Amino acid sequence: MDITILGIESSCDDTSAAVLRNNVLLSNVIASQAVHVKYGGVIPELASRAHQQNIVPVVDTALREAGVAASEIDAIAFTRGPGLVGSLLVGVSFAKGLSIARNIPLVEVNHLQGHILSHFIDLPDRRLPHPDFPFLALLVSGGHTQIVRVDSPLEMEIIGTTIDDAAGEAFDKCAKVMGLPYPGGPVIDRLAKEGDPEAFRFARPRIEGLDYSFSGLKTSFLYTLRDRVAENPDFIEQRKADLCASLQHTVVTILLDKLVKASKQTGIRDIAIAGGVSANSGLRDGIVAEGRKRGWRTFLPEFKFTTDNAAMIAMAGCHRYRAGQFSSLDVAPEARLGEL
Ligand code: KG4
Ligand code: ZN
Repeated sequence: MDITILGIESSCDDTSAAVLRNNVLLSNVIASQAVHVKYGGVIPELASRAHQQNIVPVVDTALREAGVAASEIDAIAFTRGPGLVGSLLVGVSFAKGLSIARNIPLVEVNHLQGHILSHFIDLPDRRLPHPDFPFLALLVSGGHTQIVRVDSPLEMEIIGTTIDDAAGEAFDKCAKVMGLPYPGGPVIDRLAKEGDPEAFRFARPRIEGLDYSFSGLKTSFLYTLRDRVAENPDFIEQRKADLCASLQHTVVTILLDKLVKASKQTGIRDIAIAGGVSANSGLRDGIVAEGRKRGWRTFLPEFKFTTDNAAMIAMAGCHRYRAGQFSSLDVAPEARLGEL
């Protein structure tokens, strides 16, 4: 039987709605919030206000683009967490309202599971490559850096996680001290293409097991800037591309190091990446090269599924719907929904 799911994502600063029929994406509309750029980061109060303004037109557009009437929706999937509570609340409340109005089930989704399950979406004209179970997912976003063992769409286990900053956070914070606009990740990616990745050496963590750490890298980046700017006030401007290339190279090396270890430990060789930082060209190239060397099958998400989107929420919702995992009307948003 065909299942048509409306997905809603509002965990951070993108308001998104998508319509999915089984695995096939019929529409995926994202309203990004420009309001945060001038503050150099997401301001939670402004984010929830913008979600309130965006949510109705975004859902309307998603239904129209899909050519689907509200009466054809079988269930509504929404992000319950993790994320900003005020932002999540807008999506959760909207989902509840629609669930009551149309008398259809509510399906809550963990945002992080959504990122991982984006690898199972197909496009109307094209089947995309899907990993086989079990696979390892490197989930890298602004708030999370995790290695996840995925045994089925509903069974996932975090086997490595950052003990301090996330990879995206490392990019964003280092970009900020160089005076680059928010979010810094994509800007660093672009500038890095012109620079020498070996120009500077920054600290790499030495921690046991599969966990990550990026705070040492951030501190050593900061000290390098401080010392060199003291000698030459134009240092950042003159060496921006080399700084970006060296920073990106270090982040990618740190990420791959533990991923290789995780693959060796588990014997799993289907490796996927997901989350905002999976758009990074250094990481994408690095993982493909490593995969060739080690006999992995590597799965890179389409760019439109790397950053926050409702398509992945609808996809995860579809799996929960099939398993009969529905939510009640008293479900509340959760800022921290750490365990998968
Ligand atoms: O998954 P996402 O959209 O939101 C969270 O759930 O955090 O990820 C946003 C993060 C930001 O830190 C942003 O700088 C980073 O993804 N990012 C990138 C790139 N595109 C987005 N980082 C490095 N290179 C990129 N091309
Ligand atoms: Zn995300």
